[in-house]
Amino acid sequence: MREVAIVGIGCTKFGEMWDKSFRDLFIEAGLMALSDAEVSGAQIEALYGGNMSAGMFLEQEHIGALIADYSGLTTNNIPSTRVEAACASGGLALRSGIIAVASGYHDVVISAGIEKMTDVGAEKAMDALASAADREWEAEVGATFPGLYAMMARAHMHELGTTREQLAQVAVKNHYHGSMNPRAQFRNKITIDTVINSPLVADPLRLFDCSPITDGAAAVVLVPAERAKEFTDTPIYVKAAAQASDTISLHDRRSLTSIDATTIAADRAFKMARLQRSQIDVAEVHDCFTIAEIMAIEDLGFFEKGAGGPVTLAGDTAIGGKIPINTSGGLKACGHPVGATGIKQAVEIVEQLRGDAGKRQVDGAEVGLTHNVGGTGGTVVVHILAR
Ligand code: COA
Repeated sequence: MREVAIVGIGCTKFGEMWDKSFRDLFIEAGLMALSDAEVSGAQIEALYGGNMSAGMFLEQEHIGALIADYSGLTTNNIPSTRVEAACASGGLALRSGIIAVASGYHDVVISAGIEKMTDVGAEKAMDALASAADREWEAEVGATFPGLYAMMARAHMHELGTTREQLAQVAVKNHYHGSMNPRAQFRNKITIDTVINSPLVADPLRLFDCSPITDGAAAVVLVPAERAKEFTDTPIYVKAAAQASDTISLHDRRSLTSIDATTIAADRAFKMARLQRSQIDVAEVHDCFTIAEIMAIEDLGFFEKGAGGPVTLAGDTAIGGKIPINTSGGLKACGHPVGATGIKQAVEIVEQLRGDAGKRQVDGAEVGLTHNVGGTGGTVVVHILAR
């Protein structure tokens, strides 16, 4: 297997992008990545596009062909593949591109992610998102995504003592990070009181415990490491691209307070990278709900089980803390266009490792990690990137 490097990145602004179509968004992100890597469209040999549910959000399928067509990449008839794993579609598109380059099948590959969610009403969006759960055994009997994560939150509070304030602090920290990110959907700073007094969504989760409904796209250019310097002076190397799966239904899981696929994917990633948890300088983790970030930092092995809440309240996961988590603002404040999130996480880590993250910069960041979850943990993808 060849080592792979990221040599170009692009990401649109995230939010309610009513003036931009699905096509506009992926073209914008793709062009930014190509221009960053100084490659022309003609040099691209393959494309992997993460997208969860254009069928339900836009009544459009056949996304691989659509992206290739409207990006002008049909001239060379390159292979263009849509990748789907619910909210982990972007992470999986990244891993698919990495495997294509590592294997020697292709040299210059784009991995992208795209979702346009705000063209439908809240009810339809909720229904589309519910298709990431088990439709027959969860969604049909009324379980929504906030509802499923609320059950995890209740169990975590009951078994491990996590408090309402600790959950809220995840959102406070991520809004603070998002306030420094020009791409973020929400750039307002909030307090614990803002979260605790916001409308109830699914007890104990409130509005500010939830990631929002978002439009956005992101893209990265991948090449073999030995060719990276042809494209950029600051290549970022892929040290690991790991994936794990688990039962799609929450009720079939071993535990409600851990996502086992996270632990397994992380173990695989650290083994592949030959690195220790303590060597990670910055991480983007899947905080679709505040409880999800607390479980992620525990299951990834950064903190002991049950310590996720207290360390968050103590500031250990904020910029300047022991291990800054979600410097982009995370899914909570930067936004969560489901198919694009996994690629946006990589874009943020590349900016951090290049030293280009502006006010959000983590001093001396050399190694970063991304963690992208599909559904309630049926799919997890973990990448480790290094300068
Ligand atoms: N955090 C903070 N503010 C939010 C927000 C969020 N997650 N979602 C919406 N808002 C704000 C809006 O900006 C709007 O503010 P305004 O009145 O000042 O303009 C207000 O809340 C109402 O917005 P609206 O779009 O009507 O909210 P909603 O009630 O339809 O939806 C949720 C709110 C939480 C239900 C929705 O964002 C949601 O379903 N989130 C979860 C998404 C999800 O499950 N993703 C997959 C995870 S795996």
